[in-house]
Amino acid sequence: MKYCNSKHICVTPRGAGTGLSGGALPVYGGVVLGLQRMNSIVKVDTENFQAIVEPGVINEVLQQTVKEYGLFYPPDPASKGTCFIGGNIAHCSGGPRALKYGTTRDYVLNLEVVLPSGDIIWTGANTLKYASGYNLTHLIIGSEGTLGIVTKIVLKLIPFPTQNSLLLASFASPIDACRAVSSIFMGGCSPSVCEFIEPLAFRLAADYLQVAFETPETVQAYLLIEIDGNNGELIAKECENMYTILTEGNCLEVLLATTTSEKEHLWKLRRSMGEASKKSTVYKEEDTVVPRAQLPELFAGTKTIAARYGLRTVCYGHAGDGNLHINILKDEHSDAYWNHEVKEAIKEIFRLCISLGGTISGEHGIGLVQKEYLPLAVSEIQIDLMRNIKRCFDPNLILNPGKIF
Ligand code: MLT
Ligand code: ZN
Repeated sequence: MKYCNSKHICVTPRGAGTGLSGGALPVYGGVVLGLQRMNSIVKVDTENFQAIVEPGVINEVLQQTVKEYGLFYPPDPASKGTCFIGGNIAHCSGGPRALKYGTTRDYVLNLEVVLPSGDIIWTGANTLKYASGYNLTHLIIGSEGTLGIVTKIVLKLIPFPTQNSLLLASFASPIDACRAVSSIFMGGCSPSVCEFIEPLAFRLAADYLQVAFETPETVQAYLLIEIDGNNGELIAKECENMYTILTEGNCLEVLLATTTSEKEHLWKLRRSMGEASKKSTVYKEEDTVVPRAQLPELFAGTKTIAARYGLRTVCYGHAGDGNLHINILKDEHSDAYWNHEVKEAIKEIFRLCISLGGTISGEHGIGLVQKEYLPLAVSEIQIDLMRNIKRCFDPNLILNPGKIF
């Protein structure tokens, strides 16, 4: 970094390359700094419930390792089998379980960071509380590799929840499904997962994985709901309460996944939906997020906007967090139509999302592909503050240039 800084050579940090906003692409050339060989789990501290890891550790490898000690690292992006913890920090990744357990940010205590100057700092302390000046740890999280290169991470762990139930509720109306999401919480349930899924997303994933999954014509939306904990009786009670709420919310049917393999099957389908959409056609993936009760308006408005542009969409995502992934499919449209019209449609969807109190990315980041839309969500004053922070860390603007703003 010292050498590159002195010669003004751009450096783009790169983890597993699974990001969805183009953050790891070296758009201005220079050095791509691959972190994949910094992949050790340095320590699992079972007294303090902490882990010290390098950025190239695969999310799922960490989860499995700490599980052997009865500990839990909850953030679980769809790409957990391949994505790196370093990339998760760069984007503040979430995943289905963020609903109950929070996102990456909630599990990072301290970071070793190499600054563009080559200086090495620790951003905080290995403590559960921190009130010693500005929180540089949280500034680095979500900064998409534009402020420094994370080389060591101190993570908070929690006890592993030993039991869970997984329900799949089907609805004839997607709006009813979206409405049911708020009702679940207002009815006193606190599921660990509450995912909204359109039948097309299941069908694309089933085709992609070459497995069977029937979506009856009457079904227009699903909610995939997990309830976890350590007490089987309490989980069963919460499932009953959930069943009542869903039934009152016009659900057609609630299926309980009874075996581990049924659960794994549903999860595999859910986690493959992004890849499956990508495989089916050229697509644009959006990561809208609104306050949970505004989800029905976001979904309905998105469909209206997309229909006006003649664009097909497939929606799924972390409904409990109000976080809806909207995949816009190119299908048979010409390149010219697609390249121009899709941007207009996206702007309309984003304006709707912002008018509902939401923003343009909940967990995928801005990177390269969303940067032209950031001014829709963030004021010029805020962007200026971000620019100035960037200049403080990286006066020569060598680190991951061309990203975010
Ligand atoms: C997901 O929830 O599946 C992920 O954010 C990835 C994706 O949508 O492609
Ligand atoms: Zn997601």
